[in-house]
Amino acid sequence: MSKQNLRFYVATILNPINDKKCEYFNPGLLVVEEKKKGVVIKDLLQLGKGLDKYEDFMSDENTTHFEDAIIMPGFFDMHFHWVQDDVREMPKDNLLTWLENYTFPTETKFANKTYAKKRAKEFFARLTTTGTIGGACYSSIHEHAVEAAIDNVQGHFVIGNVLMNMYSPKKLTQTETESLEITKRLIQKFKTKHAFTPRFAITTTPEVMSKGAKMADKAKCFKQTHLSETPNEIEFVLSIYKNIPGFEDVKTYTDIYERSGMLGERSLMGHGIYLSDKELKTLSKTKTSVIHCPTSNAPIKERGLGSGLFDFKKTEKAKVRWALGSDIGGGPILSMFDVIRSFVDQNAKKKVTGATHTKGLYRSTLAGAEILGLDKKTGNISPGKSANFIVVPFKGEAAKNAELMLEKVVNTHKKKREDYDKMVSHVYLDGKLLFSKK
Ligand code: GUN
Ligand code: FE
Repeated sequence: MSKQNLRFYVATILNPINDKKCEYFNPGLLVVEEKKKGVVIKDLLQLGKGLDKYEDFMSDENTTHFEDAIIMPGFFDMHFHWVQDDVREMPKDNLLTWLENYTFPTETKFANKTYAKKRAKEFFARLTTTGTIGGACYSSIHEHAVEAAIDNVQGHFVIGNVLMNMYSPKKLTQTETESLEITKRLIQKFKTKHAFTPRFAITTTPEVMSKGAKMADKAKCFKQTHLSETPNEIEFVLSIYKNIPGFEDVKTYTDIYERSGMLGERSLMGHGIYLSDKELKTLSKTKTSVIHCPTSNAPIKERGLGSGLFDFKKTEKAKVRWALGSDIGGGPILSMFDVIRSFVDQNAKKKVTGATHTKGLYRSTLAGAEILGLDKKTGNISPGKSANFIVVPFKGEAAKNAELMLEKVVNTHKKKREDYDKMVSHVYLDGKLLFSKK
């Protein structure tokens, strides 16, 4: 240990461990160490306790005091559409109508390369300021839009172009050959940063899903799509597939994806609100993850699409892995603080117990990293992991435990949800300051 290699950060610290546990140091000390492989977390401790081993190393130059602030890990947003930034603020409606009237026309604009580049630069810069430094992202059908996104994103993300070959507007329809060629090129170029992304079974032919899934599996890329978000979507899916050769006998939406090679341990299914026990069993058996997007599923008067309440208890009982996502633009706010708030509030309103802030924080940080296979490296601020963390100013009395402290933090902007996006003052990735509020 040498003095030059250590850096110290003083603040309250919240460190999610699992659904039930979040470490809480008030005030805390975060020690990071610069190593050859990068800047890693060395220690987390209560200020005062056990400090002696570092006292000789601490100086004004290597110590940052964040007054009235909380250090916590950066967020993982496991399902969002970066090309729907403008859709967030448009009117909401039932999923299929909303796609038709607002989402598809907006995504069509990304056919223009200059526009796509400009929007990617703006969007991903703003995303970083909200504290999101990892996740899984959907782009439009256009190859150059994925490139623009990957060029601008900062952190641990997988990103893919949505594939649309049927039941889609003309300007957003590609041939099967085009879709597969783009997939092949993007996998070659971006390797595992690319996510194979059939939009959903309505718009993507099983031919493209199964051939593309094979390519993705071979390259160890993630696969993502939407599953069982609304009842009329499910009805439409089944009515289409009963006329597709090889699918005449499928009973469920999940069966369609299973038969098309879309399930597996690197598969992310957006929503999964309306799933039978049998479907959950299939998801569990194949180690497929479900991504729950509470702000998108919330009632229309709460600026969501009114899709319904995800049953996290049933999902956990079936041993299906799950994490949280914002589903921008189905969800109206970028910040995962608002997503946690919505998860807790909607369940509380329906008298469902167990939807705690502690669970919400775990499911929007470490659970995402676990699903992406990055938990040895990131997802929380535990010793040995990369120095990836955010700072959240918090004035007010400290609560007596992590859950109550999180509740205070998460409820800060209930009345003006836009302000959740401005809560973070500093973002560190691999020990490097990516963002600090002026
Ligand atoms: N299902 C298919 N496409 C979409 C989309 O863009 N957003 C949501 N929420 N669901 C979808
Ligand atoms: Fe979505």
